[in-house]
Amino acid sequence: MVYSQAKVIAGGLAHIPVVIGVFYLIMTFFNKRAIEFSENIKTKKLETTPKKTNKSEKVANPPKTVSQPVATTKKKHADVPVNIYRPKTPFEGTVIENYSLLKDGAIGRVNHITFDLSESDPFLNYVEGQSIGIMPSGEDANGKPHKLRLYSIASTRHGDNFEGKTVSLCVRQLQYEKDGETINGVCSTYLCDIKPGDKVKITGPVGKEMLLPDEEDANIVMLATGTGIAPMRAYLRRMFEESERKKNNWNFKGKAWLFMGAPKSANLLYEEDLQRYLEQYPDNFKYTKAISREQQNEKGGRMYIQDRVLESANELFNMIENEKTHIYLCGLKGMEPGIDDAMTKAAEAKGLNWAELRPQLKKAGRWHVETY
Ligand code: FAD
Ligand code: A2P
Repeated sequence: MVYSQAKVIAGGLAHIPVVIGVFYLIMTFFNKRAIEFSENIKTKKLETTPKKTNKSEKVANPPKTVSQPVATTKKKHADVPVNIYRPKTPFEGTVIENYSLLKDGAIGRVNHITFDLSESDPFLNYVEGQSIGIMPSGEDANGKPHKLRLYSIASTRHGDNFEGKTVSLCVRQLQYEKDGETINGVCSTYLCDIKPGDKVKITGPVGKEMLLPDEEDANIVMLATGTGIAPMRAYLRRMFEESERKKNNWNFKGKAWLFMGAPKSANLLYEEDLQRYLEQYPDNFKYTKAISREQQNEKGGRMYIQDRVLESANELFNMIENEKTHIYLCGLKGMEPGIDDAMTKAAEAKGLNWAELRPQLKKAGRWHVETY
């Protein structure tokens, strides 16, 4: 059959819509696949990339108590309370007591402050090693309410009077000189100045980094400078105060070793309690002090806890080699490099490599750091 030129053109034109239709269907199919693919990637990223938060943002997160079913698998420390109170709805605790922890001749100002929690609803419970937020009264230079500051809890969950309705802090007033003027820290000064009966805005509790292990035969090495003793005081009370031991149903049988750094003897915090624990539990408690402005290290410089760590390297690393041993570091951020150096040297003496060992301890949940 012979088609005229006009018929061929007409026939060709008649196929154009069919070709466009098929082409459109193919494009739609691929576009849909592409959209599904990119959506999948986005969802996976959201699932795997945790949202970056700083500590104060964390406090502002919605309250999560572990009893809430958040995941199908049981999370570690899932029963530890967090963020029961947040900055928008803080709990107003009443100051019960506020007294100096320092002896005559001490440097600065460090106070022990206790708040009544009995009227909190929901109840503001916490465990040893956590922190709370304090919102100082007044406004900042921009006329906005002051932001909260975190403080390590210095009491056990049972509170200093063992009734389970108080929380205590150990606070150093921040003071420094600038352009010939003395500057007082906002929140630490507010806390050191408050009086019994005053109401204070409290948030939290927060933090799971410094929790004690459950095992009664764990060994606990504590490295503290200044107010870094706060969580350690709570641990030691939990371990060695008779009323705590009765209430806890947790009878510590391991070894606790506190390295404590203070500028002067008069600055040693909770010293009487620590001496009592030494007398009552000589096989379970060891206490090593580094009094920087009264003692000298072997190079003739100020004695810091890292110098004491080096002196005790062998004994310390024998403990660390035991998988029941946990190490807790709390206080000045500036001590971290010094502690790292000391641990490196101490490890070397035992033929160990601290740079490899530390991440392993961290991964095993045995290396706990909270510095500020
Ligand atoms: P601010 O008024 O906030 O002043 C602090 C600012 O002053 C600094 O950010 C810096 O900009 C400036 N500054 C500080 N020193 C100097 C200087 N030498 N020269 C120039 N500028 C300077 N503190 C305790 O006392 N006890 C605790 O148990 C405790 N636990 C903590 C736990 C955690 C997890 C964290 C994160 C911190 C903890 N802190 C603790 C520190 C506490 O949160 C506050 O940071 C501290 O009390 C100072 O707050 P402030 O409001 O008094 O000082
Ligand atoms: P110093 O201030 O004599 O240099 P406080 O908080 O009561 O001031 O105590 C902190 C203790 O920690 C002090 O003895 C202080 O010593 C000490 N210290 C200061 N810097 C470091 C550091 N980089 N490493 C370890 N300890 C430190």
